[in-house]
Amino acid sequence: MKYAIVTGASKGLGEGIARKLLEEQVKVIAVSRSDNEELHEVARKIDGDYHYFRCNLASTEETLAVFQRISETIFQQTTEAVYLINNAGIVDPIETVGDLNDTAILDNVQINLTAPVLISNLIIKQAEKTQIPLTIANVTSGAAERPVHGWSIYCSTKAAINMFTRTTGLELENKASSTKMIAYSPGIMDTDMQTTIRSSTEKAFYDVDKFKEYKEKGMLRSPAIVANALVKLMFEGNLENGKVYYVNDLL
Ligand SMILES: NC(=O)c1ccc[n+]([C@@H]2O[C@H](COP(=O)([O-])OP(=O)(O)OC[C@H]3O[C@@H](n4cnc5c(N)ncnc54)[C@H](OP(=O)(O)O)[C@@H]3O)[C@@H](O)[C@H]2O)c1
Repeated sequence: MKYAIVTGASKGLGEGIARKLLEEQVKVIAVSRSDNEELHEVARKIDGDYHYFRCNLASTEETLAVFQRISETIFQQTTEAVYLINNAGIVDPIETVGDLNDTAILDNVQINLTAPVLISNLIIKQAEKTQIPLTIANVTSGAAERPVHGWSIYCSTKAAINMFTRTTGLELENKASSTKMIAYSPGIMDTDMQTTIRSSTEKAFYDVDKFKEYKEKGMLRSPAIVANALVKLMFEGNLENGKVYYVNDLL
């Protein structure tokens, strides 16, 4: 059997990824602060396997405890493969530097960067110990590669996750590990994160009108399409360790 851990599966891109994986008969472990009843329903209908673990990724203690329990559940003798999708993320704080809220800075760094690093470290260790093939996809953003007025923390944490992916990929290649780590840049999608972005003030986020226009002109992609492209990519195998894959190159 195959297991996939999906962080932030309660809505948006994570929900789409979890749904597609269930359809592919992968056992899904969903991690977020709130559960998604529809995913339980999908699993029931197709005789799939869906488990929800409540976790606030802003808490190091909670993250380590929950992922220790998860790793004990999934790394079994009968497990053929494990997938980890570090998808959960927040865009806040949207504000210019000098006016940032300290707690909001720390939460963003914790959720977007520290948590995926801690989780990857723990899961890679278990995969190497048990010799079970592992594929990790870190969801990144175009904002990792260009500055966006008002998004200094989001741009920085996503840039850091790209470099973490590249460095880990290099290490895995050098030791001829069966583990792969990639990053996935999903483009702009019609999710709650975009609602948060559109609700910013122009002072905090210079480009807010451009993002309102993306919504009005139907330019935001459905998260289901973006999710399906990622699952297809991971299943095709032959992934290049450390590479950032872009949804636009896959569709
Ligand atoms: N939407 C876009 O246009 C866009 C563009 C580029 C990149 N991305 C990236 O795509 C990924 C998914 O974004 P999305 O648009 O699907 O966002 P979303 O709809 O806002 O969903 C975010 C997910 O992250 C989870 N999450 C947030 N804070 C958490 C916390 N403290 N602990 C645990 N889980 C937490 C949420 O679950 P709970 O609230 O239930 O905890 C939710 O499931 C993110 O990494 C984002 O940076 C999005």
